Amino acid sequence: MFRFKPLCLLFICFLANQPDPLMAESWFNELLVKRAPAYTQEGAEACLACHAGEKMRAVGRSAHGDPDNPLTPFALHECESCHGRGSIHISRAHGGKGYPPLTIFGYTRGAAPRDEQVEACLDCHADESSGIDAVPFEGTLHDKWIINCSSCHRVHAENDPVMTRRNQAEICFACHSSKKEEHPKVGKRVPDFDRMGCAGCHRVHRLPKPEKNVVQGQDATP
Ligand code: HEC
Ligand code: HEC
Ligand code: HEC
Ligand code: HEC
Ligand code: HEC
Ligand code: HEC
Repeated sequence: MFRFKPLCLLFICFLANQPDPLMAESWFNELLVKRAPAYTQEGAEACLACHAGEKMRAVGRSAHGDPDNPLTPFALHECESCHGRGSIHISRAHGGKGYPPLTIFGYTRGAAPRDEQVEACLDCHADESSGIDAVPFEGTLHDKWIINCSSCHRVHAENDPVMTRRNQAEICFACHSSKKEEHPKVGKRVPDFDRMGCAGCHRVHRLPKPEKNVVQGQDATP
């Protein structure tokens, strides 16, 4: 029926030998809306029907699923708050191929571009405009084109391991493996990573201090 109507209209216009540009435009706009992904009505329930399993449910019990906080992904569009609008994905996903992908995090084939991954988190975490405490990232030591939030954070876990000192070393050593054997001595010894983790000394979300005595425009820092 959907297809028949516009075609029929076009046919009438064809007979009159005068396509109605307004009608054609509204017909095409309708098509575009149908093609564009939107947020699903069902939210996480729709996703969990196919993406079942403990890892998928764990995110709802993490800080991102805190029922008392109206600013969490789960209070908004649930899974789609991070992965993007899923209406077309859920309708065509039977079997797996040929549907617009959602935002895929990480480094696997088919993963979203790095900036898209980072933006998906910074939409909420970049500045206070979202109502959430800002977490500096842009301009930090790790704001390199290869590194994104999920390089360190595991959001599909009830407790993100990098937030606990005891578990940090393992995550940081994934890239800084050389420091396992030869971390510079602090005081007289190599730090006890199991006890101190890494973030106790390296505040990874802190912006580097501006260099002293650098002339910035007209202002010279004394
Ligand atoms: C009808 C089943 C179905 C539903 C419902 C569904 N998906 Fe999928 N999803 C799939 C299939 C199949 C794949 C492709 C797996 C593959 O090709 O490796 C996939 C892939 C994905 C991926 C990429 C995974 C990766 O690492 O490659 C993400 C992310 C994803 N879905 C999230 C969601 C979200 C969020 C929802 C809810 C809005 C959802 N899906 C609903 C079946 C479904
Ligand atoms: C806070 C943002 C966020 C929310 C909310 C979220 N995800 Fe994810 N998702 C991620 C990130 C980041 C990854 C990459 C792997 C990781 O960090 O665990 C991921 C990975 C995935 C994958 C890839 C497969 C895998 O095993 O790694 C699928 C599928 C997926 N999420 C589906 C979902 C579904 C379904 C929901 C809702 C129940 C959901 N996600 C909620 C951020 C999110
Ligand atoms: C819809 C908004 C939203 C999105 C999108 C979002 N977050 Fe959050 N996040 C929150 C809120 C709200 C909290 C609760 C703490 C707060 O209010 O500061 C939180 C907390 C966190 C915490 C602290 C967890 C803890 O255990 O205390 C981490 C880490 C985090 N988010 C990382 C991420 C990452 C990584 C992504 C992207 C994959 C992401 N967030 C996407 C809203 C969001
Ligand atoms: C190099 C690893 C790394 C990367 C990359 C990273 N984080 Fe973090 N993040 C951490 C660590 C470690 C902590 C815990 C800090 C601590 O223990 O003092 C943290 C803490 C947080 C917190 C909690 C803040 C608080 O004050 O409690 C949020 C929210 C967060 N990160 C979000 C993000 C987002 C969003 C991104 C990407 C834009 C990101 N992180 C990228 C390592 C990282
Ligand atoms: C995905 C890989 C990756 C992960 C995971 C990672 N880093 Fe990094 N880190 C880098 C890269 C790349 C640089 C930049 C190196 C450079 O520019 O010399 C860097 C730089 C640093 C530096 C500055 C080094 C210097 O030469 O000044 C410190 C300190 C650091 N990281 C600590 C951490 C800590 C702590 C964690 C865990 C919370 C962590 N990193 C996790 C890749 C990573
Ligand atoms: C007790 C404090 C402390 C702890 C804990 C700590 N570091 Fe460091 N780290 C330092 C100091 C001090 C330096 C030397 C900084 C300098 O010379 O500029 C350093 C230097 C580094 C550098 C740069 C090395 C270089 O060659 O310039 C990296 C990378 C690094 N640490 C990673 C880590 C990782 C990963 C962990 C956790 C497994 C960790 N650190 C735990 C204090 C600490």
